[in-house]
Amino acid sequence: MARPENTLAFDGGWEYDPAPEATDHVHIAARYGLFIDGEFVRPATGRYFDTINPATEERLARIARAGTEDVDKAVAAARKAYSGVWGRMKPAERGKYIFRIARMIQERAREFAAVESLDGGKPIRESRDVDVPLAAAHFFYYAGWADKLGYAFPGRSVKPLGVAGQVIPWNFPLLMAAWKLAPALACGNTVVLKPAETTPLTALKLAEVIADAGLPPGVVNIVTGAGDTGAAIVEHPGVNKIAFTGSTEVGKIIQRALAGTNKSYTLELGGKAANIVFADAAIDQAVEGIVNGIFFNQGHVCCAGSRLFVQESVADEVVAKLKDRMETLIVGDPLDKNTDIGAINSKMQLDKIEEYLKVGQAEGGTLHQAGGRVPKKGYWCRPAFFTGVSQSNRVVQEEIFGPVLAIQTFRTFDEALEKANNTPYGLSGGVWTDKGAKIFRMTQGVRAGVVWANTFNKFDPTSPFGGYKESGLGREGGLHGLDAYLKPGA
Ligand code: NAI
Ligand code: MG
Repeated sequence: MARPENTLAFDGGWEYDPAPEATDHVHIAARYGLFIDGEFVRPATGRYFDTINPATEERLARIARAGTEDVDKAVAAARKAYSGVWGRMKPAERGKYIFRIARMIQERAREFAAVESLDGGKPIRESRDVDVPLAAAHFFYYAGWADKLGYAFPGRSVKPLGVAGQVIPWNFPLLMAAWKLAPALACGNTVVLKPAETTPLTALKLAEVIADAGLPPGVVNIVTGAGDTGAAIVEHPGVNKIAFTGSTEVGKIIQRALAGTNKSYTLELGGKAANIVFADAAIDQAVEGIVNGIFFNQGHVCCAGSRLFVQESVADEVVAKLKDRMETLIVGDPLDKNTDIGAINSKMQLDKIEEYLKVGQAEGGTLHQAGGRVPKKGYWCRPAFFTGVSQSNRVVQEEIFGPVLAIQTFRTFDEALEKANNTPYGLSGGVWTDKGAKIFRMTQGVRAGVVWANTFNKFDPTSPFGGYKESGLGREGGLHGLDAYLKPGA
């Protein structure tokens, strides 16, 4: 398989030998159909599109483009499986299937990790250590609830919603599929899921796992395509619930399409999280947290810590340390185990990020960007941050979804809190201090679904995740995530 030329790094620094993850165990078919009613079928549209490796710009596979007729078939298969088997199966039996999926993801973990990095551009270290283990953990966690729903919601009688339509983005392709599928299945729903057009491969690999696990046909259907395929799922009258993760813009379109229908829905949308560093924080630890918060997964993270507020007395120190640390980050081959920052997911996303780098400077901000070479082919962005920006600047207000941080300072607690909340979003936040009381005051004051204290970007299947304001509505994960796939029932 072609590799981007070995990159490196920063001028005058040290260099690592390449440490590429093997790909000889990875099988990617030349062409993938749609996974409907338990098998891969050709799309009625007869149309296919390419999914590429953003690190080499080479085609990995041809992917079926589902039209309304295909979505119809998938929804019909899901409905039949819901009424015929899955909705009435003994919950303990359902649980066994979900446990089996979890174990099979673990067994094929190396393959899933490599495919995720090839198709989406994220560093292998992250797909190997974060995405794939967490995806398995979600299936394990919800498998355990399948036969214990009565204990999950004591005193309430619950039943599944029916057919769930799920549309997911390209930043955590397998993990988002797991977040959506696992609770839906545990509650007895059947599913039509659409992965993002730039990263369909791990969802299609998951379809293979689902077939191998012996799930009854039609319980999970995976249809590939772009926004029009997603819209066909959202608008389909045979769907009872929509779960969407993606941009706020599309979230609003979906909300409008669903108004007046009796479909239930959850939306997990954009974010512009504040990381707040007080002078009494462990500064080196905070700098690592800031780096993890914004440069993790190329900043393609809805809960990325993309705004930094530093208390004035330590601002120079934090900025200097951050700059040094940023220079040591290795941008390059996603399959190399040394890589910190992989490829930007698509040309479109790279263009958007580069536009923001210009906008921020035009607004008067000072851009600090890491030096070093990046490969000629592929989509790359060296990590960067802005200083000298203010609250009204677009780079402070808008979701960039790239490795670009906006830094501001504050003097008092109240000023930090007010600035942190001055955003249309409310997905996540972070606070760094050695005072427990400050942590509690801040976590109660920041209007965000999750606020990390002295850490950042930590996930666990048991804890709910979701946003306030334009970051969406509803929660995924934990018992809240289970509740979103149930209705009151006899
Ligand atoms: P997007 O919101 O268009 O794509 C997410 C998913 O929605 C994909 O599967 C896409 O095919 C589908 N989709 C698109 N239009 C649809 C429609 N009308 N109805 C139903 N489904 C539809 O996100 P995109 O264009 O890939 O990225 C644009 C920006 O959105 C990014 O730069 C980033 O700022 C933000 N974004 C945020 C994400 C998050 O997790 N919060 C994830 C992806 C993007
Ligand atoms: Mg791709």
